[in-house]
Amino acid sequence: MDVVIIGAGVIGLATAWRAAARGAAVTLVDPDPASGASSVAAGMLTPVSELTYGEEPLLRLGLASRERYASFVAELEELTGHDTGYRTDGILEVAFDSDDLGYLDDLRRFQESLGIPIQALTGRECRKAEPMLAPGVRGGLLAPADGSIDPRRLTPALRAAGEKLGVRLVRQRATAVLVENDTAVGVRLEDGSEVRAAEVLLAAGPWSGDIEGLPAGIVPAVRPVKGQVIRLRTRVPFLRRPTRGLVKGSSIYLVPRADGEIVIGATQEEMGFDTRVTAGGLWELLRDARELLPGITELEFAEVTAGLRPGSPDNAPVMGPTALPGFFVSTGHFRNGILLTPVSADILTDVLLDGTVPDVGTPFTPDRFEVVPS
Ligand code: GLY
Repeated sequence: MDVVIIGAGVIGLATAWRAAARGAAVTLVDPDPASGASSVAAGMLTPVSELTYGEEPLLRLGLASRERYASFVAELEELTGHDTGYRTDGILEVAFDSDDLGYLDDLRRFQESLGIPIQALTGRECRKAEPMLAPGVRGGLLAPADGSIDPRRLTPALRAAGEKLGVRLVRQRATAVLVENDTAVGVRLEDGSEVRAAEVLLAAGPWSGDIEGLPAGIVPAVRPVKGQVIRLRTRVPFLRRPTRGLVKGSSIYLVPRADGEIVIGATQEEMGFDTRVTAGGLWELLRDARELLPGITELEFAEVTAGLRPGSPDNAPVMGPTALPGFFVSTGHFRNGILLTPVSADILTDVLLDGTVPDVGTPFTPDRFEVVPS
């Protein structure tokens, strides 16, 4: 089976590796691999904290992916010798004021109703877990099975794994999907040349609508949702584990890495294809981070970036076959792209190589957006 994948972000790279491991001949097409949201993301592996009520199918998908992470990373690191910065020491979620604590209490009840282990902590217990937290922090939750990974280490590892298994990378933009006899047969590149393949997978994140040649309605609308992220650096121990905070209703997270980097994210802005870093975005992040961890202002500034998350009409991923034979999608991962990488790669590999959608993927197939003529 030969497959061409449009987009070498974390989803395209992981799917290429898994499909190649099962014997597919894979070509990845991307002018600048892993340069989009995959290079900005903090990499929290926390299936619950960014969900809203009523998103249980997405929660199940996130839990399934978190469970697959350990073996996914073990195989990847063994194959490539890369360290991905994978950690499983839990995630702390803290409340700044009593309203924030009320929200976390509701979240805990929701998690418990779904059988997810979660531990309620007093303010004192939060500070014991993270001594740099502000004295006023009211309380929090510890999600012991959550973790994190460094996406800037994960994507090079995925590229190396693909290379070892013969994945070909074409550093060009795919401008169109080639369709012959109502079937996708490959892609056209920006230099006019073609890559032909039996199957075409679109994994172009927020740019998934930016490709010609497809019949109308085949690709669900995917919009860019901007997130600004700050990276700081510390030489002394500052934060032990990834910590989310609610500060007067606004949400923030801080993810520490073993090398002293601390990633602070993220704004959520519907601004189209705008990746400008703004004074307001930075101020919002630093203001809330300082409320939770006053010592943050002493840390060294390292970097600021803005990325675009791909949001589908229902904010859940869109994965599987489409109404056009030979054409498949894996996009719309929104705030969960890094978390959902292992399960998405497995789902698409089954779809591409076996022609079946595994049970875990059935709520997320593109046909949920198909307009049925009345
Ligand atoms: N999952 C983190 C974010 O989207 O900001």
